[in-house]
Amino acid sequence: MAFSPDFLQELAERNPIEEVVGEYVALTKRSGQNLFGLCPFHSEKTPSFSVSPSKQIYHCFGCGKGGSVINFIMEIERLSFPEAVEFLARRAGMAVPEQGHDPNRGRRERLLELNREAARWFYSQLSAPEGAAAVEYMRRRQISPRMARSFGLGFAPDGWSGLTDAMKQKGYTERELAEAGLAKNGRRGGVYDAFRNRLMFPVIDVRGNVVAFSGRILGDGEPKYLNSPDTPVFSKSHNLFGLNLAKKSKAGYILLVEGNIDVVSLHQAGFDSAVASLGTSLTGEQARLLSRFTKRVVICYDADAAGRKAAQRAIPMLEKLELAVRVVTVPEGKDPDEFIKARGPEAFRALIEDSENGVEFRLQRAAEGFDLGSDDGKVGYLREAAALIATLPDSVTREVYALRVAEQCSVAAEAVRDAVRQARRRRLNGERRRAERENTRPLRQSQPQGVAIRFENPASAAAEAGAIRLLAQSPELFRNGAGPNPEHFSSPELAHIYEAMLDFTRSGHECSAAALSSRLTPDEVGLYTSLIQEPVSAANGPRALADYIHKIEAENCPDDTSDLRAVAAKLKETKGYGG
Ligand code: GTP
Ligand code: MN
Repeated sequence: MAFSPDFLQELAERNPIEEVVGEYVALTKRSGQNLFGLCPFHSEKTPSFSVSPSKQIYHCFGCGKGGSVINFIMEIERLSFPEAVEFLARRAGMAVPEQGHDPNRGRRERLLELNREAARWFYSQLSAPEGAAAVEYMRRRQISPRMARSFGLGFAPDGWSGLTDAMKQKGYTERELAEAGLAKNGRRGGVYDAFRNRLMFPVIDVRGNVVAFSGRILGDGEPKYLNSPDTPVFSKSHNLFGLNLAKKSKAGYILLVEGNIDVVSLHQAGFDSAVASLGTSLTGEQARLLSRFTKRVVICYDADAAGRKAAQRAIPMLEKLELAVRVVTVPEGKDPDEFIKARGPEAFRALIEDSENGVEFRLQRAAEGFDLGSDDGKVGYLREAAALIATLPDSVTREVYALRVAEQCSVAAEAVRDAVRQARRRRLNGERRRAERENTRPLRQSQPQGVAIRFENPASAAAEAGAIRLLAQSPELFRNGAGPNPEHFSSPELAHIYEAMLDFTRSGHECSAAALSSRLTPDEVGLYTSLIQEPVSAANGPRALADYIHKIEAENCPDDTSDLRAVAAKLKETKGYGG
């Protein structure tokens, strides 16, 4: 089953980690050899995610995640180890050696290929006679052929088997068609096309895979949209329509809108960072996905009650991920597409520039919940407004909003300031208590972070970790059986890492993170990379090794150290390593 270490090493070399990670994370060179960026696995403001091209590893100082390029792909693409290997092999144009069977791998790949073929077929229908109605509909909606091409729009004709027949001819089975959500099982056996007589919007993920479709009826009718169901390659809550294009925008913000047509229309008008959340209200996963590509989100939902409510729900979700949120309200009950068609792109740009920020929007929504004509209503609103204002980090901004609220309720400014101060004190106290709780866990520092591994004996583990670091850096010290005995390690995970490394080293293989990741659990690889990303002094190798052996033996087999003491003593005498 296992891939050979040589193959994995070559795979890693032909998929340089800085290049692969760079497709998901904006990396900048900062200190020394390492590249830094914002961690895609947890939300943060300052980059603590590092990539070491020379060690071929990534490591996040914030959340502790780390590993080889293979682990990165496993984590970010949610793939199994063999799937991630295959993914990278394809990326580098390498053949994958004959493998034990991972039934899911082939299946996912097939479905993605099928989706791509289907998108091509739908697109080709636009130039077939049957597609005339769709072309006419796009013309009426003023969607340019250029946009149709860049979004890969297409047409599902009004038969029962157009797509199904075409895909069967390409060798896809009815089962695969049904599994991809492109066909439905008929009552008397067989399948029929799921999308009929609809303008087709392929949903393309950030890697360029066609993962699903959204089909709009031409003109009026119910249902207006038909969307692919969740499939092995698609989860509605994890994808955003248009993000494959918006992620390349230089706008500096992402424009979150409701409709697919709005997205296309905005891109066409030059707002190339528009995305839509596939007909659901924004999910946490979608928010997280956005946060990988931007720091600023402009919400531009429809001006109706549902749109307002959706915006209100989305704001705290995005703010929790430290995204700056602004809200655009399109006047006259229009959606962005209608507004641009009626008033032009410049008018829309002005809307964005005047857009309310999240606080203003939420203050306004809060005010709507109270009767400000009554004393009770005022008190309730003031309390809620003060809590909102208290969350603002900047004192000048707090003052601005406090004054505004005071005016709004015709109360003294000092009263609002007081309420804000109180709300802040409550918040800060809460934060301080949390911080204290964190600090009173003494062992926390010596425990690995971000992985589900705990050391029972942190003192011994430190020595075991030291031996691993040394082995990574100076494998020659470990030849001829030198080094601590993994059976005496206190931590089974460290022992496992160390043994795997010894195996590679002693069988003449390079001990790379990629090769190790076939033998270790993801948590162990994370632990391994967190250890080896720390620099160690090369000067005193033999002495350090002796100390580690000594410590490990003393901690774990106190009665039986005579032999090892002798080995340790001998190592200390070794010449030629400096020190
Ligand atoms: P137009 O009315 O042509 O401007 O369409 P639109 O793309 O702007 O869509 P709209 O604002 O009406 O709806 C927003 C989004 O909600 C759509 O893009 C769909 O993803 C989703 N949606 C709308 N209607 C339906 C429906 O009938 N069924 C499903 N499943 N989703 C829908
Ligand atoms: Mn619309």
